Amino acid sequence: MPNTEERLKILVTHPEVPKDVLDLMSRGCDLIICHSLPPSRAEILEKSKGVDGMFWASHEALNAEVLDAAGPQLKAISTMSAGIDFVDVPELKKRKIPLGHTPTVLNSAVADLAIGLMIAAARRFHEGRLKIENSTWENFHINWMWGQDIRDATVGFYGFGGIGQEIAKRLAGFDIDRIIYSTRRRVATDIEKEFSASKVTFDELLTKSDILFVAAPLTEETAGIFNAAAFEKMKKKAIFVNVARGGIVNQEDLYDALKTNKIFAAGLDVVTPEPLSKNDPLMCLPNLVIVPHLGSATERTRTDMATIAAHNVLRGMAGEPMFAPAY
Ligand code: DGY
Repeated sequence: MPNTEERLKILVTHPEVPKDVLDLMSRGCDLIICHSLPPSRAEILEKSKGVDGMFWASHEALNAEVLDAAGPQLKAISTMSAGIDFVDVPELKKRKIPLGHTPTVLNSAVADLAIGLMIAAARRFHEGRLKIENSTWENFHINWMWGQDIRDATVGFYGFGGIGQEIAKRLAGFDIDRIIYSTRRRVATDIEKEFSASKVTFDELLTKSDILFVAAPLTEETAGIFNAAAFEKMKKKAIFVNVARGGIVNQEDLYDALKTNKIFAAGLDVVTPEPLSKNDPLMCLPNLVIVPHLGSATERTRTDMATIAAHNVLRGMAGEPMFAPAY
């Protein structure tokens, strides 16, 4: 039995991490668990002091303030998320603290949701529901509530990594015409071949896509890139789906584009801020389907994410390569 004094300490920033995952970490380490819900920054900062590892289970800012609160013995951190836009990566790198995250395991769940949003937006689910609620269901017009076909669509991807490719895999059953994508770097030729996908410029992505999925990380380069100028270039019948981060979209411009029918409809899993107020102007748009950041919200996916995050922290503290290093 190791001497208790030698046991490393891991801060777990959330009280709802699955028990099996806590057990995995507590075999060799002491766990310091934060109990407040929603997670309280004050509690996280207070409990950070002296820990060797951090299991970062919320989208709370992970920055110099946290690292200072922990102290110089801090050896490794993992988020329980694919996106790390809430992490001050340069600060962690400067202090040589390895960071893990949990990509890949959520690709299927997020892709399923993206397909759901695509169909819901193209076939006007939200507007249809409102018609029932407002007693304006008409069943006598031939052209009532016509939506957009998925069949024969040119489907565009802004970002064509793991999530984008999982969405593309699911589209194989929809008889679409073709896939185009815009990314910083071209994806491998075998992936292009597998999905018959071609890389295009951002402008071409906007002008040619019938359906456009956003599946890219939020970075300085991507922040607000879907703005008025971008929506102006899109087809009037375009369907816009964002399962990445709200910050990639200028929300006021998206509101205008939907309100004035510059584009046909949109489906959003992510917005700014989260949670969104029920009084937000976006909530009044019949041609917008919004769900509250549900992408990875299945039991299996969240449990897998927690397991990977735990392994990341344990390996990082042991000086071993993490299961899913963020850099
Ligand atoms: C992620 O992990 O980044 C997803 O958006 C779920 O939070």
